[in-house]
Amino acid sequence: MNYQQPMMRGSLEEIETASIDELRSLQLRRMRWSLAHAYNNVPHFKQKCDEKGVHPHELKSLEDLKHFPFTTKQDLRDNYPYGMFAIPMEDVVRIHASSGTTGKPTVVGYSQNDIDTWANVVARSIRAAGGHRGDKVHVAYGYGLFTGGLGAHYGAERLGCTVIPMSGGQTEKQVQLIQDFEPDLIMVTPSYFLNILDEMERQGVDPRKIRLRTGIFGAEPWTGEMRKSIEERAGIDAVDIYGLSEVMGPGVAMECIETKDGPTIWEDHFYPEIIDPNTGEVLPDGEYGELVFTSLTKEAMPVVRYRTRDLTRLLPGTARSMRRIDKITGRSDDMLIIRGVNVFPTQIEEQILKVEALAPHYEIVVTKNGNLDMVEVKVELTPAATAANKDAVTKELSHHIKSYIGISTRITIGEPGTIARSEGKAQRVSDLRNKG
Ligand code: DLL
Repeated sequence: MNYQQPMMRGSLEEIETASIDELRSLQLRRMRWSLAHAYNNVPHFKQKCDEKGVHPHELKSLEDLKHFPFTTKQDLRDNYPYGMFAIPMEDVVRIHASSGTTGKPTVVGYSQNDIDTWANVVARSIRAAGGHRGDKVHVAYGYGLFTGGLGAHYGAERLGCTVIPMSGGQTEKQVQLIQDFEPDLIMVTPSYFLNILDEMERQGVDPRKIRLRTGIFGAEPWTGEMRKSIEERAGIDAVDIYGLSEVMGPGVAMECIETKDGPTIWEDHFYPEIIDPNTGEVLPDGEYGELVFTSLTKEAMPVVRYRTRDLTRLLPGTARSMRRIDKITGRSDDMLIIRGVNVFPTQIEEQILKVEALAPHYEIVVTKNGNLDMVEVKVELTPAATAANKDAVTKELSHHIKSYIGISTRITIGEPGTIARSEGKAQRVSDLRNKG
C-alpha cells in the first residue's frame, strides 16, 4: 500500500469516490496497522491497552475500536515532549506544537511520509475548494509552531499552486500584497479575514473588485451567517477547512465548494467517531456529541481515539463518498453555562450577524454578581451605521439573544474599531467568574 502517491481519477483521487465497502475495508486494514504500530512503539498506549485488557489483534471490525482507550490532551501533556512518538527521533523530520492557554504546549511530530500525507490531504482540500495548478494562494495562517501556515503551504505547493507565504499579522501589508500579487485563493482564519477586509475598506479598496475567488477558512468556529456575510462583502466563495495539530493539522476535513454543506472528513487517513462526552459511549451517525479521531496512516505520532472536545455530528457523504461533519458548534471547553443554560459563542455570533447595523466583531464577557451570572456582549457599529440609534440596536440584539438563546445580556455598542481585532484565532470570551 502506497498512500503517498494518490491514484487520480479525473480530477479527483479514486478514494474520494470509492464505494463505502472499499472505503471501510481500507480503513480496517489501516486501523489494524495503526493500532499495532502504536501498541508496539508507544509504551504509554501499550500500558493503557493492557490495563483495559485489549490488544490490537482483537480488532476484527471497525466497530471494535470502541473497546480501545481514549487519548486526551492530558496524555500528550503527561508524555511531554516526545513520549507519544512511535518512531526513532532521527526519523522525525518536523515538530509542531499548539500553544494552549496554560502550562506546557502539546507537541506533535511528523515523519517524512507524514509530511507527504499531510501535503496530499491539504492539496486534496484545496482542490475540493476549486483550486488548481496555476492558482496563486495567499497563506495568512501563522507560520511557525502552529500547523496552519506550513500545513497550507505544503498542500498548495503539492497541488501545483504558487504560494505567497505571508503568515499572519502586518495587516496593511496583507492588503497591499493581495492587491499587487493578485492571489486567487486565500487561506486564513475567518476572524483575521474580517480584519483584512476592514483594512481594505479603510484604505479605500473595494474587496469585491480584487481578484480573490475563494477563501479557505478554518482553525476556529464560524457560523453559516458569517459565511454569508463574508461572501457578500468580499464577493468570494467561503469554504470551511477543519483540522487539529494532534491529528495532523489543517486538512483533516474540508468542505467541497460544489455543496458547501460541511467539511468532508478525509476518512482514508482519519477515522471519526462521535461519542457522548459524559459517558464516552459511541453515538450513531447524525447524533450530536464529541468528535474523536483515530489516525490510520500516521507514523511519527499515531493517535488512537483522540478526544478533540469539538462538538458536532457525522453526516452522510454528498460530494464525496466520505462522511461529513456538521459545522462545529464549539469546543466543550468553550461552552458557557449561564444561569443553567448552555451557550456557545457561535450562537451569539449568529444573532449579531442578523443585525444590519452591527459589524461582525464581538466579545463576550461573563462575570458574577452575587450568585447570578452576568453576560455582557460587546459589539460595534459598522462604519456605514455610525448614525444608527444605539438604543434601538441594543434592543434588537438583546431581543434576538433572549428569544433564540434564552438568556438576558447587557449589550455594549461601541464605535467602529473598538473591539480588539484578531490576527489568527479570535479570543472572543472572557469568563471572569472564577477570577476574584
Ligand atoms: O487550528 C489547525 C488548522 C489550521 C485548521 C488552519 C484549519 C486551518 P490547532 O491549533 O491544534 O489546529 O486547533 C485545533 O481548532 O480542535 C477546533 O476546536 C478548532 N478548529 C479548527 N478548524 C476548525 C473549523 C488548527 N473549521 C482546534 N471550525 C480544533 C471550527 C475549528 N473549529
